[in-house]
Amino acid sequence: QKITVAIDGPSGSGKSSVSKEAARRLGAAYLDTGAMYRAVTWHALDAGTDLADADAVAAAVKAADLFISTDPDVEKVTIHGTDVTEAIREPFVSEAVSAVATNLEARAELVARQRAIIAAHGRIVAEGRDITTVVAPDADARILLTASEEARLRRRGLQLGGTQSAAELEAQVLARDAKDSTVVNFQVAADGVVTVDSSDLDFEQTVETVLEAIKA
Ligand code: CDP
Repeated sequence: QKITVAIDGPSGSGKSSVSKEAARRLGAAYLDTGAMYRAVTWHALDAGTDLADADAVAAAVKAADLFISTDPDVEKVTIHGTDVTEAIREPFVSEAVSAVATNLEARAELVARQRAIIAAHGRIVAEGRDITTVVAPDADARILLTASEEARLRRRGLQLGGTQSAAELEAQVLARDAKDSTVVNFQVAADGVVTVDSSDLDFEQTVETVLEAIKA
């Protein structure tokens, strides 16, 4: 049976790990749209593209030869043939990604590619910041995964393995959320979107709550 599940949420809400596990249990594909924004950002930096030049950023995104695995058990992202699976998680990419995320032409290009990937799969869980509202507003299930600021910062700290100081991390995550909020609304659930607050839920509880919301 076909099913499209759209999950949005801010940094540290648990969106990626929860969406991936939900996809596994549903026997569905999984699309991490944030990884696509990160990959084109990595490439723009690598190619020396001026991130302040909106036209140059948009052109680079349109020309990007981007591959992303949709197998929840295989994490792989390549751009122009380079495997950037690990590199796109580096703090320098997180710091620069807003240049792509706030570029409306770049967003339109990535949204079109995301829609094509979703259409190519019978069963898929897609996650990001604008999946419930822009990429797949007619998805079978639409969920906004939220968490308190405290819980989100704690989780991001764990994910990065403590390489950054807590204050640095906090400043970076909040700055990125603030920039993202200027172009995408992922703080308030749109009409028909179910909110799941993971602040006081552990991983398993969050996955179960999300799966219940999908069945409902
Ligand atoms: O690391 P985190 O979970 O916060 O973010 P991510 O899902 O890896 O996405 C990285 C960045 O890509 C976000 O901060 C947004 O700027 C951008 N993004 C977006 O604009 N729209 C999406 N659908 C997904 C990500």
